Amino acid sequence: MNLTVVGAGYIGLVTSLCFSEVGYNVFCVDVDQNKIQNLKKGISNIYEPQLERILHSNISSQKIHFFDNLKATEAHSSLYFITVGTPLNSNNEADLTQVFSTVEQIALLNNPKKLVVIKSTVPPGTLQLLKEKYKNKDIEFVSNPEFIREGSAFSDCMNPDRIIIGTDSKSATQTLFEVYKPFVKNPKSIIYMDPASAELTKYAANIMLASKISLMNEFSRICEKTGANIDSVEIGIASDQRIGPHFLKAGLGYGGSCFPKDIHSFITLGKQLNEDLLVSKAVAQTNDFQIERFAKKIIDHVQKPQKVTLWGASFKPETNDTREAPAIKIIQKLLEQKFEVNIYDPAANQSISHCFEKHPQFKSLHFFNDQYEALTNCQYLVICTEWKQFASADLEKMKSKSSQLHIFDGRNIFSLEDLKKKNISYYSIGRPQ
Ligand code: UGA
Repeated sequence: MNLTVVGAGYIGLVTSLCFSEVGYNVFCVDVDQNKIQNLKKGISNIYEPQLERILHSNISSQKIHFFDNLKATEAHSSLYFITVGTPLNSNNEADLTQVFSTVEQIALLNNPKKLVVIKSTVPPGTLQLLKEKYKNKDIEFVSNPEFIREGSAFSDCMNPDRIIIGTDSKSATQTLFEVYKPFVKNPKSIIYMDPASAELTKYAANIMLASKISLMNEFSRICEKTGANIDSVEIGIASDQRIGPHFLKAGLGYGGSCFPKDIHSFITLGKQLNEDLLVSKAVAQTNDFQIERFAKKIIDHVQKPQKVTLWGASFKPETNDTREAPAIKIIQKLLEQKFEVNIYDPAANQSISHCFEKHPQFKSLHFFNDQYEALTNCQYLVICTEWKQFASADLEKMKSKSSQLHIFDGRNIFSLEDLKKKNISYYSIGRPQ
């Protein structure tokens, strides 16, 4: 099978490689010439487990081919997966410019019977708009939202828990079934529906998950005021099958390129449809508040500005993505208060440094390649991301680098018992101090 993937960002690159991994000939297109030149050489600016190995092996087997323009792929395939970005615009709407311009370019190609599969996250109703606009062209459209997570993108993509196919075309349904057959063990995990429901399913999944996190963060505040422990509350509710064990971790809240963006564009969609989406608004507000509250806790505790070490800058472990990472807001608050910040992240030092390179106090940020070195002569440690190597850190070694260590743990990675035994002052979220 030959197919074209348009957009070599996170979703596009991982999807392309998973398609080539099962033996399809994949033509991956991106307008960023520099990115394409690098990908041809096997170089990616994204850190994702397994990515480098899979990229190299598929380049060697000549299953994946990179192009900087769509025209060059015209002779190879009429099946297009669109994975371009839909960032928030200044009105907090999903900006569909890249999706619309990609479809326009596809429409101008000469190959007949095109099938355009929209994987980018778009508001419900978008596919219908496209269908009407191109009704005189030989193009069919399918909504096929993506549910892979950064940090585990390849295993999610190779073993999806469900594939959503939104279309009313029988032939498109059949083609997508063939495409996804190698990925599903049970054909029932392919779910068929109308396009608008498929588009909405994507928002509903992300907002449902984000709301679980915000609710846990709300409970954590009451824990801190009453002596309850959010870990026990989590265990207590996770065993209720109607609630389930996932996405119940209180902490610094959600970040990344998806949850924050999708919630805001969904709230805006509500406004446009004259619906006030109160729960979604509260989820977003609770998330912002959680980070501010944590930053205030650090600043109030430390009192006079001094040096603070920060572990973890990416929005979650196993990625170098710092988009909407809680660490950014924490660093901003610390810089506002004239703190110096030592930063260590296993993958995201470069990316967090880019975020602040134009900041007037950039010189107050110091980057380290070793988590313990970052602690040298620094009394305060702030943890923003739950990388495994932080949870398994050697507490004695940490103490040797920094006497009178105080830890502000925004991800609850340490056990209260262990820290008490080591006599380290420890402030976590929703747990007894
Ligand atoms: C999310 C969804 O989980 C994917 O299904 C979806 O495909 C993707 O967005 C997308 O729309 O493209 P992702 O943003 O990669 O994936 O990361 P998640 O693992 O969902 O984590 C999101 C945020 O929630 C992270 O900042 C994480 O730290 C936070 N989180 C997660 C918590 O604070 N508590 C939890 O219990 C779980």
